[in-house]
Amino acid sequence: MMMSDESIILEGRGLRKEFGGLVAVCDVDLRVRRGDLHSIIGPNGAGKTTLFNLLTGTLKPTRGTVIYKGRDITAVPLHRRVHLGIGRSFQITNIFPNLTVLENVRLAAQALGRDGFKFWMNYRHFKQYEAAALHALAEVGLVDRAPMLAGALPHGDQRKLELAILLASDAELLLLDEPTAGMATEQVPPLMQTIQRIQRGTGKTIMLVEHNMNVVMSVSDRITVMHQGEILAEGTPAEITRNETVQRAYLGELYGDFATIMQEDAP
Ligand SMILES: Nc1ncnc2c1ncn2[C@@H]1O[C@H](COP(=O)(O)OP(=O)(O)OP(=O)(O)O)[C@@H](O)[C@H]1O
Ligand SMILES: [Mg+2]
Repeated sequence: MMMSDESIILEGRGLRKEFGGLVAVCDVDLRVRRGDLHSIIGPNGAGKTTLFNLLTGTLKPTRGTVIYKGRDITAVPLHRRVHLGIGRSFQITNIFPNLTVLENVRLAAQALGRDGFKFWMNYRHFKQYEAAALHALAEVGLVDRAPMLAGALPHGDQRKLELAILLASDAELLLLDEPTAGMATEQVPPLMQTIQRIQRGTGKTIMLVEHNMNVVMSVSDRITVMHQGEILAEGTPAEITRNETVQRAYLGELYGDFATIMQEDAP
């Protein structure tokens, strides 16, 4: 019998992923509280995406366990995790360019919804899914773009569309891998605020991967810092800001070899 803590929606225990000789994720223990906006940050190659892949079932861990709502889901494949309420976005934009914005979201609502995808659908159901899609588009501020072809959207709006697709899928836990990737700098804070508004307004749990610490500082409830496959630190944004190990790692990022030399010289 597994003890379950109701406040923890997702947990990784001793998660490890090896690619040949490379340890991309090294025995990671992680607990995500229900309703939190929990960010995973760390430099390129830290293992953030690999950790997400283990949590969502895209990859099978070399070792370790994934627990969702008190249940061991390590062996549950990706598509079935979606129906358990776990939704994810990919670092690479993943939409149908030749469908309209609305159709993209409506199809996601149908395909990923709890009812599963049905080819034959009556008009009432069609309208229900369309309403859900429009609601999701409103949440991310894209209603005006609903009739446009998705492929014609500017990049920043495509990222919002991905978010709307996840929202329409009715997932309880959203995993977003660098949702601001490739966006113009001035578009980043509004998107982060949208994500936070969704979290606060819906009570959904959101996990977010970012390599830039500043982006997540003001919106996160908790932050996990990864470095070379391991967890370097975890805490509230305030705790992470004053964490000396994190400061050193990030200075190392900024100043590269110079900081490394300085640290090696330090007693
Ligand atoms: N499928 C794979 N096969 C082999 N090595 C991989 C694979 N996926 C990731 N890696 C390696 O695992 C390590 C962690 O990669 P990962 O993509 O998880 O990092 P990340 O923190 O998401 O980085 P980024 O910020 O660049 O997205 C890297 O050294 C990467 O080259
Ligand atoms: Mg990544």
